[in-house]
Amino acid sequence: MLSIAVVNLKGGSTKTTSAAYLLHALAESGLSVLGVDADPENCSLVRWSDLASWEIPVVGMPVKDLHRRLSSIADGFDAVVIDTPPMESGRGIVTSAVRGASHIVVPMSPTPMDFDRLRAVLDLIDDIDPLRGQPAAVAVLLTRVITNSASVDVYRAAARDLVPVLSARVSRLERFAQAFGNPIENALNTGYGDALSELLGMEDHQP
Ligand SMILES: Nc1ncnc2c1ncn2[C@@H]1O[C@H](COP(=O)(O)OP(=O)(O)OP(=O)(O)O)[C@@H](O)[C@H]1O
Ligand SMILES: [Mg+2]
Repeated sequence: MLSIAVVNLKGGSTKTTSAAYLLHALAESGLSVLGVDADPENCSLVRWSDLASWEIPVVGMPVKDLHRRLSSIADGFDAVVIDTPPMESGRGIVTSAVRGASHIVVPMSPTPMDFDRLRAVLDLIDDIDPLRGQPAAVAVLLTRVITNSASVDVYRAAARDLVPVLSARVSRLERFAQAFGNPIENALNTGYGDALSELLGMEDHQP
């Protein structure tokens, strides 16, 4: 089973928006998908799915043993996308999500503040590596990218020294800024669809 954890220790780094769009992109490509909301404070993914009456099921599961429970929770689904909290809310939960996932997406805006926090996320992912059977596929996804800005190339190059960076990018758009609470359509036609193809094309890893 495909399990994608969307992880960044920084708050407000587009984790929930990315998880929501990745879920829908997977569903649009014909997979049966489950959303797992592991954020104990905001529960934004559950809230979004309730407000918008998504057909995609989303469960709240802000627990530190998610890696153990994931296969039974997701039994019968082709894929799971896990939205995680920022570090302040629960390092143990993030650690568990990272441990259970076959693929880890780190959404990051091309800004100095986001880049400054990237190394801490990668350190956490590295720390988990010995605990899993096979390494996960890990990639940064640049989000809230301002079209034609130089920053995207600067931070893509900087991040690439540390971790694979998807060439797909998600633009800074009202469409995404206003998306919470609304149905999501045509997710495959956004940068998230491109991100998914690239991510799944990476060497296949199972947890
Ligand atoms: N591509 C985008 N363009 C413009 N705004 C965006 C984009 N993606 C997300 N946003 C906005 O950025 C803000 C933070 O996004 P989001 O809530 O997804 O982040 P988060 O990492 O889940 O935050 P938290 O750590 O609080 O859970 C939200 O207001 C969201 O609407
Ligand atoms: Mg969130």
